[in-house]
Amino acid sequence: MALSTDLKPMNIKDTLEATGMKGKNMIFLDDWSRDQLAALFRAAELLEPFSRTQLDLLKGKILYTLFFQPSTRTRCSHEAAMLRMGGRVITETDPLHNSAMAKNESLHDGIRVLSQYADVLVLRHGDLDEVFSTLERLGDHACPIISGGFGHVTHPTQGLLDVYTAYRVIDKPLSEMRIIISTPDLSRARSGQSFALGAARMGAHIIYTGTSELKTPDVVRDKLTAMGASFEEHFDLDKAGNLDLMANADLLYLPGSSLKKEDPNREDFMKKVANHAFTLEDLQNLKKKTGRAIGIMHSLPRNDFEFDQAIDNTEFQLYFKQIGYSIPLRMALLAAICGVN
Ligand code: CP
Repeated sequence: MALSTDLKPMNIKDTLEATGMKGKNMIFLDDWSRDQLAALFRAAELLEPFSRTQLDLLKGKILYTLFFQPSTRTRCSHEAAMLRMGGRVITETDPLHNSAMAKNESLHDGIRVLSQYADVLVLRHGDLDEVFSTLERLGDHACPIISGGFGHVTHPTQGLLDVYTAYRVIDKPLSEMRIIISTPDLSRARSGQSFALGAARMGAHIIYTGTSELKTPDVVRDKLTAMGASFEEHFDLDKAGNLDLMANADLLYLPGSSLKKEDPNREDFMKKVANHAFTLEDLQNLKKKTGRAIGIMHSLPRNDFEFDQAIDNTEFQLYFKQIGYSIPLRMALLAAICGVN
């Protein structure tokens, strides 16, 4: 092994520059190399001590959050991250009623205008085709855009904070991790699919378990295949089959459902989720068998019936830890995209 001759102390500015994200959009995680994601995670580690205080890296910058769908975590944690770095925030949570989009202004025109007020924009939108055609038409005539969730397919900052959580809490390299993505509806699991793309890019092995009629969208499968990801897919397993998969994994990720309460497909999800649910006792039995605790991740919000909430205050719980790691990760992301002096 060669000894390193690079003995410079880690520096936030150099680390952010190494991400190569300055001025870029954040749409899919496979757009970034393993080295770029590793640099982003190093920047997030450097920023962790400031996630409950202040570090004025982005003083004078403005973040615009434009959310066409409801959100608690994604919008508030981007806003908190910007405020922690001395920047400012303009929030629009209901553009179809409050903004000129209520007067039929197109998404293209809205973003082109807002880009002249803000340095970076986080957009959540349910219509993937409309977003992608708008982004293509905007080209360079917009500020950098971060997806806060597009359609049912991509939610890259959720995926990033989830990979960062795995990197911080599991005592082995990402390239040695075995990660399960478990839901009856892999077709509408944008957080799980973004986590899969990010974790696979870092070399983790991905194990999907879902139902045969609601598989991973082709656009995501094609991306995994193109990057040479190591992944396997299982369909229609019963609860015992899913527990068997868990016996050989480091993490179980539950992406929940991005369907709204009133969506008719939600009932189907609720019926089938029983095969993916588990109790605290199941996890304790698995630990006795394997000698190690599996980490349980969920992008939240969760439904009562998805898993036993007695897990909340145990060693298996990572879903509230993910929230804590979302702030330094999103601080690093905003600083990498905006650039710092
Ligand atoms: N995980 C997530 O996207 O949560 P919100 O819908 O609250 O943003």
